[in-house]
Amino acid sequence: MLNISFKCLKFAAHPIIIMSRNTDLNQLLEESRQGEALLLKDEKPQERKLYLESYGCAMNFSDSEIVASIMNGNGFSTTNNIDEADVIFLNTCAIRDNAETRIWTRLRDFKSAKKNNPDLIVGVLGCMAERLKTKLLEEQKLVDLVVGPDAYRDLPNLIQTVESGQKAVNVLLSREETYAEISPVRLGSNGISAFISIMRGCDNMCSFCVVPFTRGRERSRNPESILTEAIELVEAGYKEVTLLGQNVDSYNWEDRVNFAQLLEMVALINPNLRVRYSTSHPKDITDDVLETMAKYDNICNYIHLPVQSGNSRVLEMMNRGYSREWYMNRIEAIRRIIPGCGISTDTISGFCSETEAEHQDTLSLMEWVGYDFAYMFIYSERPGTLAARQYKDDVADADKSRRLSEIIQLQSKLSHQSNLKDIGTVSKVLVESVSKRSKEHLSGRNDQNKVVIFPKEHYQPGDYVEVVITDCTPATLLGVAKK
Ligand code: SAH
Ligand code: SF4
Ligand code: F3S
Repeated sequence: MLNISFKCLKFAAHPIIIMSRNTDLNQLLEESRQGEALLLKDEKPQERKLYLESYGCAMNFSDSEIVASIMNGNGFSTTNNIDEADVIFLNTCAIRDNAETRIWTRLRDFKSAKKNNPDLIVGVLGCMAERLKTKLLEEQKLVDLVVGPDAYRDLPNLIQTVESGQKAVNVLLSREETYAEISPVRLGSNGISAFISIMRGCDNMCSFCVVPFTRGRERSRNPESILTEAIELVEAGYKEVTLLGQNVDSYNWEDRVNFAQLLEMVALINPNLRVRYSTSHPKDITDDVLETMAKYDNICNYIHLPVQSGNSRVLEMMNRGYSREWYMNRIEAIRRIIPGCGISTDTISGFCSETEAEHQDTLSLMEWVGYDFAYMFIYSERPGTLAARQYKDDVADADKSRRLSEIIQLQSKLSHQSNLKDIGTVSKVLVESVSKRSKEHLSGRNDQNKVVIFPKEHYQPGDYVEVVITDCTPATLLGVAKK
C-alpha cells in the first residue's frame, strides 16, 4: 500500500463543485450535455466573470473543472449569463467533424457579444486547439486565446497577454502534466458522483482517432494524489467516483502500480464508496482487473468495452490491436469472472473499405454479446490521422447512415431484452436525483449502470436503496423500494 499524505493544494483549499442544469454525470456523452454553461458551487466570489462551455467526453468535462479552479484562484467566478461575462471559454472536442462544426457555429454566436463589449476575451480550449490554432485566431478575428489541454496552468499569464493587446497561444503538449495536485473541482450539483482523472493522453494510435494528436502522449497520475482526491470526496459526502482515462488498462505508475492495484486501493478507501471507471481497452483489459472487480462489492459490475467493429480485417485497419476472436474471449472472461456484469460498447459504421458483410459481422457480434447499451457513430475522417493518410474514406454516406441505423435498431432491441431480464430482480440503487419526469419519483443507477426510477417514499438523493424491478422501457428500469 502507498502512504497517503495530504498535500497543500495549490489552487483552492476545498473542493469546488461545478453545477449545471443537468446533473446526470453518466450521461456526459449524451447530446444534451454538449455545450452546457458550467457553474462552480462554493467558489470564492470574484469580481470578474467566466462563462465556460464544455464539449466532448468526460475527460474534457473533468478538464473544465481544472480550468474553472485555476480561474477562480485568479480573479474569476463562473456565470451562466453570457451578457455579464468578461471571459468566454469553449472547451472543445475534435473527435468527429460534427463536433468541430458545432464549435464554429457557436463562435459565430459570440460575434455580437464581442461587438457590445470590445473588452470581452474569447478563448478556445481543449482538443481543437492544436490543429486549428491559426484558423481559430485568424477567422473573423474573434478568438483571442487558444490553449491546449496540457497548458491550463498558463491561463492566468495568457489572459494578461491578451489584456496587453496581443493574441495568446499555448498548445504545447506535455509528457508530464497531470494536474495532479490541483484541488478537485466537481461537475454536477448532486454532491454524489464525481470524476477523477487518473491519466492523460493516449499512445494507442487507433487509425481513425484524433485523440493522440490532440492530447499527446499517455501519462499516469501519481496514485497518492488520486487517493487523496478520493478520500476528500468521501469526506465531502460523495458516494461514487469514476476513474477516467482513454485506456485505463494501461495505467502504470513507475512500474509499481498498475490499474488493478489502483482500483483495489480506491475500493479499499470506504466500502460505501462506489467505484466505476472508463474506458477499458479490449486489447489490454486483464483478468487481474476483472478479479479485482469481482473481489470488491463496491467496484461496480459494469464495463464499457468499445468494440468499434465486429470484423477482424476492419479492426486490423483500425489498428485496434485485437481481433473479433480476442474480443469474444475477453467477453467470455468477463461473464466467467463477473457473472451479471453490465457491458456497453462503442461502434463505428462505414470505416474505410468496410463491406456489407463486414458490417453484418458487427451486428452479429453485438447480438452475440447482447450489449446493455452502446454509443454508435458514423465514421468521420479526421485530418492527420493514420486512416486519413493511408486509406480512402470510400463508404458512401447513404450506406454509412443505413448501417448506423441498423446498428441503432439492433441495440435498442438488445437494451430492451436486457432490461426485460431484470424484471423481478432486486437492484441496489444509488439515488442521484428526483426524477426529471415526476417529483414523486427518484432516479438512480444500479451496479450495472442502468437507470432505475422508483417512488420516492422517504428516500433521498445519496441513499442506497434496494429496489424490486417491476417494469421497464428500452432505456430505463422501473421499480419499488423493497419492504
Ligand atoms: N479511448 C476510448 C475512446 C475515446 S473516443 C477507446 O479507445 O475506446 C470515443 C469513441 O468515439 C470511440 O470509441 C469511437 O467509437 C468514436 N470515434 C473516435 N474517432 C472517431 C471517428 N474518427 N469517427 C467516428 N467515431 C469515432
Ligand atoms: Fe483514440 Fe484508440 Fe486512444 Fe481510444 S485508445 S483514445 S480510440 S487512439
Ligand atoms: Fe474527448 Fe473529444 Fe478530446 S472525445 S479527448 S474532447 S477529441
